[in-house]
Amino acid sequence: MHLWQNPKSLSYRKLSSKTLLPIMKNNNDASGQSAQNRLYIKRGHVVNHDGMQQADVYIEDGTIRYVGSGADFVVPGGCRTIDATGKMLLPGGIDPHTHFQLEFGGTVSVDDFYQGTKAAVAGGTTTVIDFVIPQKGESLLEAYDTWRVRADSKVVCDYGLHVAITWWSKSVRDEMKILCQERGVNSFKCFMAYKGLFQVTDSELYEIFETCKELGAVAQVHAENGDVIAKNVQKLLEAGVTGPEGHELSRTEEVEAEAVNRACVIAHQTKTPLYVTRVTSKLAAEQVSQARRRGLLVYGETLASSLGCTLTNVKQNVLPYYVTSPPIRQDPETPRHLMKFLALDDLQTTGSDNCTFNKSQKELGRNDFSKIPNGVNGVEDRMSVVWEKGVQTGLIDPQRFVAITSTNAAKIFNLYPRKGRIAVGSDADILVWDPKEVRTISASTHHQACDFNIFEGMKCHGVPEYVIVHGRVCLENGVFRVAEGQGSFLETPVYPPFVYDALNGITDRNGDDKSARNGLQALDLNQKHDVDIPEPYALPEKYVPGPALSIVSGDSQLSTPHSARGHRPDGSKNMQQSTFSISEELDGGDKRSCIRVKNPPGGKSSGFW
Ligand code: URP
Ligand code: ZN
Repeated sequence: MHLWQNPKSLSYRKLSSKTLLPIMKNNNDASGQSAQNRLYIKRGHVVNHDGMQQADVYIEDGTIRYVGSGADFVVPGGCRTIDATGKMLLPGGIDPHTHFQLEFGGTVSVDDFYQGTKAAVAGGTTTVIDFVIPQKGESLLEAYDTWRVRADSKVVCDYGLHVAITWWSKSVRDEMKILCQERGVNSFKCFMAYKGLFQVTDSELYEIFETCKELGAVAQVHAENGDVIAKNVQKLLEAGVTGPEGHELSRTEEVEAEAVNRACVIAHQTKTPLYVTRVTSKLAAEQVSQARRRGLLVYGETLASSLGCTLTNVKQNVLPYYVTSPPIRQDPETPRHLMKFLALDDLQTTGSDNCTFNKSQKELGRNDFSKIPNGVNGVEDRMSVVWEKGVQTGLIDPQRFVAITSTNAAKIFNLYPRKGRIAVGSDADILVWDPKEVRTISASTHHQACDFNIFEGMKCHGVPEYVIVHGRVCLENGVFRVAEGQGSFLETPVYPPFVYDALNGITDRNGDDKSARNGLQALDLNQKHDVDIPEPYALPEKYVPGPALSIVSGDSQLSTPHSARGHRPDGSKNMQQSTFSISEELDGGDKRSCIRVKNPPGGKSSGFW
C-alpha cells in the first residue's frame, strides 16, 4: 500500500519548514520485521563527527531512544541485543548523489530504486538523494511525480530528491517555489555541461541561483564547460579519435576547473550558497578551496569513483565502463589529493553519482566515445572505498569519515540531526562497523544490477557487520534482508540552518545585505591565497585550531566561513593534534581512556523534536 503508486492519486499539502509529507505506510514489512522492534546495541564505540564514546544504544520504533553507558538504563524484557564489543557504531551513510533508473544517452541506467537502494544498504548507506532530471520543456512537477512513482514503492531506505533545472522560464521559477513549499525539495542542480541536452547558460545560472536564494534552497552545479567540450569532441572525432580515451581528452581538468570557478563567481555575484557536485580533479578542488578561502559559501562534493580509481592502468577494452562526467582522471595522484581536500574541509561530502550501465549499453559508444552512456557504480562501495583511502591511509580519522560520508550531507540538505548522527531522537540508521574486517570488491558479489564494477579487486578494510535501517536489522553476519518499499521519501525543508544561518545570520532570512556572510561574500575575488596541499598530519599554518563552528549562533565571528577565520569545521580534525589510531581505539579498554569526547552524543536525554 503506497500513497504514490499512481501519479493521478498524488495529492499534496502545503509544508511548513518543519513538517513532513504524509507517509501512509504499514510499519510491518515483508522481511517480517516491525518498526516496533526494540533493539539494544551494547558496548559499541559510537562515532559522531564531533566526538567518540564507548556507549550502549537503545532503539525503539525506528528511533534512537538512549545513548549512554548503560548504567542508568533498564533494558526492556524481550529486547534483542547485539554485542558490538570491538566495533564502531557509525551513522548510516548518506549518499547525496545517485541516478537510479535514469534515462540517459538513449538508454536507462540499470539500478532502479529497489536494486540501487538495496546495494546502498548492503554497503552501509541508509539514505540516498537522487536527482529528478526533467527534459528541456518538461514540467518540473510532472518530472518530480514520475520520480516519486518510480521510487516510493521500491526504496529499501529513505530517500530525498534534488531537482535539476535543465531549462528556464517563468513557469520553471514558479514550479521551483511549489517544489520547495509543497513537495519537500530544497535543492536544485544546474548542468554547465551536456550542451543541447541539460546545459543552461550563464545568465540562466544567474537567475536560477537568485531564485534558489529567494526560496532558501541550495543551488548545485555540475561544473564542466559544455561549450568547450562540444568543440573538443568535434575536433577529436574529426581527427579520428573515436575511442573511449577521447572522453577525458575532451573534458580536461582545466575544463572542469574553469566551470567551478565560473559557478563560484556567479554564486558570489548573486550572494547565493553553492554546492559543487562531483569534483573529480585536483585543479577543480583547488577552485572550491580558493573560493572558500575568499569567504564564499561554497561546498564541494567528490565521489567514490574519483577517490578509488584512476584511469592510469585501465585497459582500453574496459575503458568505456569507466566513462563518467567529469571524468575519472588519469593522474594517479588524484585520489590522494582529493582525500586531502576532504581532510582539510576544502571539500565536505562524498557521493557516488551511481548511474550504472551494463557493458552492452556502454557499447552504444563503440564508434564514438561521445555516445558512451555516462556513469559508473559506487552506491554500494562508497563507504568502504572512503574508509580504505581515508582512514586506512591515515589521512582522516573516523570522525571525519562520519562527517564526509553522512553528517555534512545531512547538514547541507537539512536532514540533520534526524540523519547523520547517533543521538537520542535521531533515526535509527546505524552501522556496526568492523574496521579490521577486509572485503574484496567484485561484480560477482555486489548487489547492484550492473555487470561491471570499477573497483573490481580492491581490498577494503572497513566492513559493515550489521546495517540497521530505521531500527530494522537489514544486514547481519553476511545475511541480507530487505523489503521492497520499506523506505520512505524524506522531505528536505528549505533554509538549511547550516547553509543559510551562515549566509544571513539566524534572525534574518530575507537576504539582508548587512549580514555577516553577505559582507564576506563581497570580499575581493582577486585576493591571493596560498593553497599548497600539506602532507598528512601537517596542516598549513593558517589552519589555527579553534572551536567547532557553531551553526546556531548569531555571532558574526562564528558565522564566518570555516577556513577563512581559522575555525575548525565540524568534523574536520586538527590532525597535528590527533592521537587517533584504529588499533588504539579497539585494542583493549585501557587505551580507550585517551579518547577525548568533546560533546558526548549520549549526553542529552531529550530528543530533538
Ligand atoms: O556521468 C554521469 N555522472 N552521469 C550521470 C549524469 C550526471 O552527469 O550527473
Ligand atoms: Zn550525477
